Amino acid sequence: MKEFYKGKRVLVTGHTGFKGAWLCQILLDFGAQLAGYSLKPNTEPNLFTILKLDQKVKHKIADIRDFETLDKFIKTFKPEIIFHLAAQPIVRASYDDPKYTYEANVLGTLNVLESIRLNKVPAGVIITTDKVYKNLEKDIAYKEDDALCGWDPYSNSKSCADLVVYSYQQSFFNPEKYGQEHKTLISSARSGNVIGGGDWAQDRLIPDVMRAFLVDHKTLEIRSPRAVRPWQHVFEPLSGYLLLGQRLHQGEIDKAGAWNFGPFDADMQEVESVVKLLIDDLGVGKYQIKEDHTKHEANLLKLSNKKASTQLHWQPRFSLKEAIRETARWYKTYYAGKDVLKLSKEQIKRFFND
Ligand SMILES: NC(=O)c1ccc[n+]([C@@H]2O[C@H](COP(=O)([O-])OP(=O)(O)OC[C@H]3O[C@@H](n4cnc5c(N)ncnc54)[C@H](O)[C@@H]3O)[C@@H](O)[C@H]2O)c1
Repeated sequence: MKEFYKGKRVLVTGHTGFKGAWLCQILLDFGAQLAGYSLKPNTEPNLFTILKLDQKVKHKIADIRDFETLDKFIKTFKPEIIFHLAAQPIVRASYDDPKYTYEANVLGTLNVLESIRLNKVPAGVIITTDKVYKNLEKDIAYKEDDALCGWDPYSNSKSCADLVVYSYQQSFFNPEKYGQEHKTLISSARSGNVIGGGDWAQDRLIPDVMRAFLVDHKTLEIRSPRAVRPWQHVFEPLSGYLLLGQRLHQGEIDKAGAWNFGPFDADMQEVESVVKLLIDDLGVGKYQIKEDHTKHEANLLKLSNKKASTQLHWQPRFSLKEAIRETARWYKTYYAGKDVLKLSKEQIKRFFND
């Protein structure tokens, strides 16, 4: 994978965000020619600035809803692979501004796909989420061909985005006509609840824990202790996206379509268990349960990774315990004022080389 990405022209949308910044650092370490397109970082601190990516990535700060600017950037940079991550990704924020959430997530995806079509970009990996599925609140792990229909505006906007990917794939980038009518392959990628160093978003468990335990030194309030999520370290889905991007670029037509990149079954755990593991690793922290179900969020969400493991030979590498240990180590290093850029590069090296 490292050899493949060396010198490749890769565009990451959402490069100023948590997952996008990690993806950029990995691609830089692999020697890719990198470009980014997204809004300014929306938290302070943020991983994009910590990794000094503004100095290392050719990038454009602009809105994904602005087709002309996006298309012009893509025309000029001529990417061979696009990873589309830019989105409004927070469930609770989507209740406050559903219109913006749909515009950024659905229209944004449409804009990226249309520019891929017009500029004949060879490969596109569109990042949606585990929340795209119609959640039956049953103890089943959703598979790629299960019904799409998220409940809240965020989840639903991502279900819509996934359907736009499907239509573009069938209509313009049909794998059966690859090499004759077009030379583009696209996929949508659905990952679980991602954890790792460098996330400071509001209303997400890990950033909420770190703010409460390491910054404000106060008791954390947990609103959905029994909610089960497919937790995974950020490198897990990113390694899946990278593998997919490579295979699509290499013209493997059976890799076009939808892919889940979920954790091991045993790692789909309750919120409260994750908080307890974090307290063990951080060595500090208290919490209290203060249930708040005023804004509906899924209670039980599991993701099957069978297709990725059998057809892409992708497997999770960290157990939940290891993912939490790496995450806690990152924040402890950051808040101790130590060299977190060095640690980030070491974490990448260990995960991708070992
Ligand atoms: N973090 C998770 O647990 C998780 C899980 C599943 C899927 N995802 C998906 O992964 C992607 C990245 O998520 P993240 O956790 O890094 O989120 P994030 O909020 O840290 O980053 C979002 C990125 O999108 C950009 N963006 C938002 N609105 C934009 C707009 N209108 N125009 C241009 N750029 C815009 C932001 O500038 C930022 O770079 C999203 O598509 C999200 O839905 C995240």
